[in-house]
Amino acid sequence: MSAASNGTERITVRGEAPYDVAIGRDIIDELVRAELPEAATRVAIIHPPTLVQQAEDLRLRVTDSGRAVIIIEVPDGERAKTTAVADYCWSVLGEAGFTRLDTIIGFGGGATTDLAGFVAATWLRGVPLIQVPTTLLAMVDAAVGGKTGINTTAGKNLVGCFYPPKAVICDLLTLESMPIADYITGMAEVIKCGFISDPIILDLVEASPAQACDPTADVVPELVSRAVQVKADVVGDDLKESVGRASIGREVLNYGHTLGHAIERVENYSWRHGSAISVGMVFAAELSHRAGLLSFDVVARHRAVLSAIGLPIAYPAGRWPELVAGIKLDKKTRADLLRFVVLHDIAAPAILEGPDSAILVAAYEAISG
Ligand SMILES: NC(=O)c1ccc[n+]([C@@H]2O[C@H](COP(=O)([O-])OP(=O)(O)OC[C@H]3O[C@@H](n4cnc5c(N)ncnc54)[C@H](O)[C@@H]3O)[C@@H](O)[C@H]2O)c1
Repeated sequence: MSAASNGTERITVRGEAPYDVAIGRDIIDELVRAELPEAATRVAIIHPPTLVQQAEDLRLRVTDSGRAVIIIEVPDGERAKTTAVADYCWSVLGEAGFTRLDTIIGFGGGATTDLAGFVAATWLRGVPLIQVPTTLLAMVDAAVGGKTGINTTAGKNLVGCFYPPKAVICDLLTLESMPIADYITGMAEVIKCGFISDPIILDLVEASPAQACDPTADVVPELVSRAVQVKADVVGDDLKESVGRASIGREVLNYGHTLGHAIERVENYSWRHGSAISVGMVFAAELSHRAGLLSFDVVARHRAVLSAIGLPIAYPAGRWPELVAGIKLDKKTRADLLRFVVLHDIAAPAILEGPDSAILVAAYEAISG
């Protein structure tokens, strides 16, 4: 992590094509212009309808730098991640004569940056991409790591590719227009980074839960930077989520997600992602404890820190069979063997494969309210 004199943090994501994630307040203009390749004469900004005004402001700034700007408004959220919307983007790029020297900016939440990344990776077999995430989840997760994707009839995120951006710009000012409930659920991913790797994140949230819930608070740049650093370190070590590695690799980022994804599926995606993984982390901690790996103090710390910012820590009783069926559908489950990221301690993750069903049920009972 390094801080520039204006307070902007820069975190490098290692790999074949390393790139920086910049984190600061009110940095879009300066950085978008600095990061745009000299040779780009056209820039396409892909954004959702919710950000129409901010996209227009961005368009004016980029136009000032002498480039032609093409605005591509796409549907909101998941509705953008379809082949039809990708096709629409490709047709706009084609009409504009978009070349390999030109640049796409993904400006929005994780759904928009996933789509923009996929379009950039596939147009002319790859054009430069700058990701400008505008939700907390997109800043600390979706826009960092180079995974792009869309949803198809076969399932969510099953079509996509790894395509590193040239840069990621996290302007914390954009978070201030987010609905607060979405911002707080994004904080679940930040807290996850605390449990799997960086306990200072937990200390900061515990010291002032109210500040952690306020996107304008002084603690937010540090929380975001620390979470991005955790993700950057993990993906830098395992660029393409390789299977069969000796170390955990990217799978560690799945802490709390095995049950979390099952909850999302059982609830028909009506739960926010962060709420589902919040419950999933308490479950993973209980499971770790019941497998004899984790002290009960750390389990209690999960409940305390997550509930302090208003995240759920329990799930209704009696739904274990549905949840197990959901877990088995997860693309990360291998050959029907249930697999969980667990903890030996804070910042000491491991994989637990095929745990005894008695401890799974006991962990579920411990979280069912
Ligand atoms: N590529 C990856 O590695 C990765 C990792 C995690 C999640 N994801 C993907 O990310 C997506 C979820 O991301 P998300 O939670 O950001 O959802 P999202 O992109 O659907 O955004 C949530 C809502 O917030 C709105 N919004 C965005 N920025 C805003 C702002 N600054 N102010 C007000 N409203 C704003 C959006 O228009 C949308 O309505 C999913 O599609 C998921 O699959 C990808």
